[in-house]
Amino acid sequence: MEHRFVRLLKEALDAAQLDLLKRVAEEAETLALPIYMIGGSVRDLLLGSVIKDFDLTVEGDAITLARALAKKYGGKVTAHPKFGTAKWFLPHSLISSNERDTLDFVSTRSETYKHPGALPTVRLGTLEEDIRRRDFTINALALRLDGQRFGELIDLVGGQADLERKVIRVLHPKSFVDDPTRMYRAVRYEQRYAFQIAEETLALIPHARPLVAKLSAQRIRHELDLILQEDDAALMLRRLEELNLLSIIHPALSFDDASYARLEKLHTIREVQPLLPWNVDKQGRVNKPYLGWLLWLMPFPRETIGALNERLHFTADLYDSLMGASSIHSILSSFVDLKPSQYVERLEAVPLDALEALYFAAPNERTKDIFFKYLAEWRHVKPHITGDDLKKRNLAPGPKYALILRRLRNAWLDGQVKTEEEEAKLLETLLSG
Ligand code: CTP
Repeated sequence: MEHRFVRLLKEALDAAQLDLLKRVAEEAETLALPIYMIGGSVRDLLLGSVIKDFDLTVEGDAITLARALAKKYGGKVTAHPKFGTAKWFLPHSLISSNERDTLDFVSTRSETYKHPGALPTVRLGTLEEDIRRRDFTINALALRLDGQRFGELIDLVGGQADLERKVIRVLHPKSFVDDPTRMYRAVRYEQRYAFQIAEETLALIPHARPLVAKLSAQRIRHELDLILQEDDAALMLRRLEELNLLSIIHPALSFDDASYARLEKLHTIREVQPLLPWNVDKQGRVNKPYLGWLLWLMPFPRETIGALNERLHFTADLYDSLMGASSIHSILSSFVDLKPSQYVERLEAVPLDALEALYFAAPNERTKDIFFKYLAEWRHVKPHITGDDLKKRNLAPGPKYALILRRLRNAWLDGQVKTEEEEAKLLETLLSG
């Protein structure tokens, strides 16, 4: 038994998770099904990081194990026999307060690629095949969980040594050709852990780079989404630029020093974000994971965002926000000495998350303050008088309603009326005008 890994497991998992793993391991032993924690969770365990989630792989039939566990402890199982995968919906007794409510089991598999950039063809395979199908040595470690061999590390490809040497290395020279998304993954891990991509692995990029063109919009955007969710997205995108891995996605996609300066703040921004006044009520569309995309692309002209959308198929929400951010970014130099109502008229049609990103990226305190005031205060300003009041005054329905209500709101915004009486007086003037 490798006591070191058992100790690491105990440090990385809470008591409820450990207890769950123990039950799973016991059942696997009874059924003589070897079971392993595998992939990113083992990597993070060895790095001493917190494990958010773990992948469990069964050498043999994962579905049998999941069903046996459900029979013994309760809960439900859904299975995909074709892929040898099963999801165990845990019984209430095993769901602890802030913990998971499902557990996934995957049978060891081999993967082959029909052509570069294709999704892999999957068939059941041995543990060794399952390890050798993986992207990097540091992601190809397995930790045995069942029976007497609990805590035994299976390291067939030198993953542990590469973790110690801080190196990202593919398992075979065709890895990036099989799956070009791995070039983006390599950069993500390299920058996340402050590792280095191995020289031989770096040398494989020029040959595989053109194959990025074969990746679907969904797959390449997913890789960029993952990067933009990381605190160190700025470092990752700079490295991708250096390796010519952005322009190959689309010739207009680039990352310069100014982009770096905007995205570098992501880490601090995410810390303060929940404390901002407009985030407190949890309404509106702020706080979506789009911040990274918005910070990156806001200076790109609308036509370029349209062109990027052709390649990346942004979600409709993100596309609208990017377009809005771009429009406002392009007129920022005119944001000087306008009246509050004039700012509101320019900003009111723009999605809130775009404005939030513009607030964070504002070129100076004055502009930042305009976005702050709009988000926290101005956008909530409404006249006391409503459409119903106008109806009661026998105003014929029509565009005049909106016009008058807008004039009243603007008067509040610009400090021309400060009380309901003043507002009523202004209404009389407007109605008689
Ligand atoms: N994997 C792979 N090739 C890919 C994607 C994933 O070989 N293109 C393998 C890797 O072994 C990886 C595992 O599948 O460890 C799980 O993938 P994923 O959940 O994307 O990554 P994690 O390793 O869990 O890492 P993280 O979520 O921290 O990025």
